[in-house]
Amino acid sequence: MVEWSESERSIISGIFSTLDYNDVGPKALCRCLIVYPWTLRYFGTFGNLYNAEAIKSNPNVAAHGVKVLHGLDRAVKNMDNIKATYAELSVLHSEKLHVDPDNFKLLADCLTITVAAKLGSAFTPQVQATWTKFLAVVVSALGRQYH
Ligand code: HEM
Repeated sequence: MVEWSESERSIISGIFSTLDYNDVGPKALCRCLIVYPWTLRYFGTFGNLYNAEAIKSNPNVAAHGVKVLHGLDRAVKNMDNIKATYAELSVLHSEKLHVDPDNFKLLADCLTITVAAKLGSAFTPQVQATWTKFLAVVVSALGRQYH
């Protein structure tokens, strides 16, 4: 079981209370799809994803980016039980969507870059350490139902 100190809890809830999901979610997902283009293969129903400009202006990508952030929100609200919270989402990504779990880490990295750019100097090493720990737990929980 992962332990969270009071300061880690307040850092994570503090970041999420100020994040604009409609901005950060789409930006992070777009970055992932552009930087790691093999991740595009899972979004075949999303329409035109032909180049970076098309990805950035695709409304399905934007909506899905927001959805991912709402997914993270559930982990923030259940910090002591992230694995159980994500059990169903993990089954969905593995058995139905067949998403290679390595991709969770790639999206996590894009989320980190996007959040760091937003926070600027507030993204201190201590904040980064806590954020990285949080996403590592999320990535591990999402990968848990894979065999
Ligand atoms: C769907 C969260 C990573 C591909 C979803 C949904 C959520 C979610 C909340 C909606 C589930 C539902 O409708 O019940 C997350 C989180 C991730 C993550 C929190 C990691 C931080 C990824 C990655 C990929 C991916 C890395 C592929 C590269 C998909 C696809 C869908 C989906 C294809 C279905 C989209 C649709 O057809 O509407 N994800 N996801 N996810 N996810 Fe993820």
